[in-house]
Amino acid sequence: MGATTLARGGSRSQNDDQTTMLVRKIPDGSVIDHIAAGKALSVLRLLGNPQENGFTIALVMNVSSSKMKRKDIVKVEGMEVSQEQVQRLALIAPRASVNIVRSYRVVAKRNAVPPRTLRGILSCTAPTCVSVREKDSAPSIFFLSGRSPLRYRCKYCGRELTEKEISSQLG
Ligand code: CTP
Ligand code: ZN
Repeated sequence: MGATTLARGGSRSQNDDQTTMLVRKIPDGSVIDHIAAGKALSVLRLLGNPQENGFTIALVMNVSSSKMKRKDIVKVEGMEVSQEQVQRLALIAPRASVNIVRSYRVVAKRNAVPPRTLRGILSCTAPTCVSVREKDSAPSIFFLSGRSPLRYRCKYCGRELTEKEISSQLG
């Protein structure tokens, strides 16, 4: 037996209401919106699990969205996500927007832009690649080769990593 399903919001305002009802506005901190459904916990991990360092977290998972079918939202009270974290976020949540909130107002909106070059973050999946065989002399380097879906290409052997492979390496 499945859980009882209530009517789902369709329009943008209904979607917004649905989210507002689930989680209140935060006074200060960060709201990471437009995370693909199912990725909220990976995003938290990428931020260093702030809930383990005293921060209060709110998770909204699998809500309707007008921009994407279903999305997750992560709110971290009292912590401002850094520019570097925003860049890394782009790798597991390429369509995410990071809202910085001060005194209840959104003072900055940063889109997660995937970096053109990644050093030492991803690993090549080709077993014969020099970056795999000689890790120390050839540290991994990847170049952005696609944005939607996200793809990165190994500098050494040309192997491309898919969005799914990238997420699973980081998440
Ligand atoms: N938010 C929050 N607490 C605040 C202010 C905003 O939790 N004090 C959340 C909102 O609920 C929303 C996100 O931060 O999920 C972005 O807020 P805002 O820019 O006001 O919303 P939108 O205009 O809908 O954002 P977008 O255009 O990115 O969809
Ligand atoms: Zn390679």
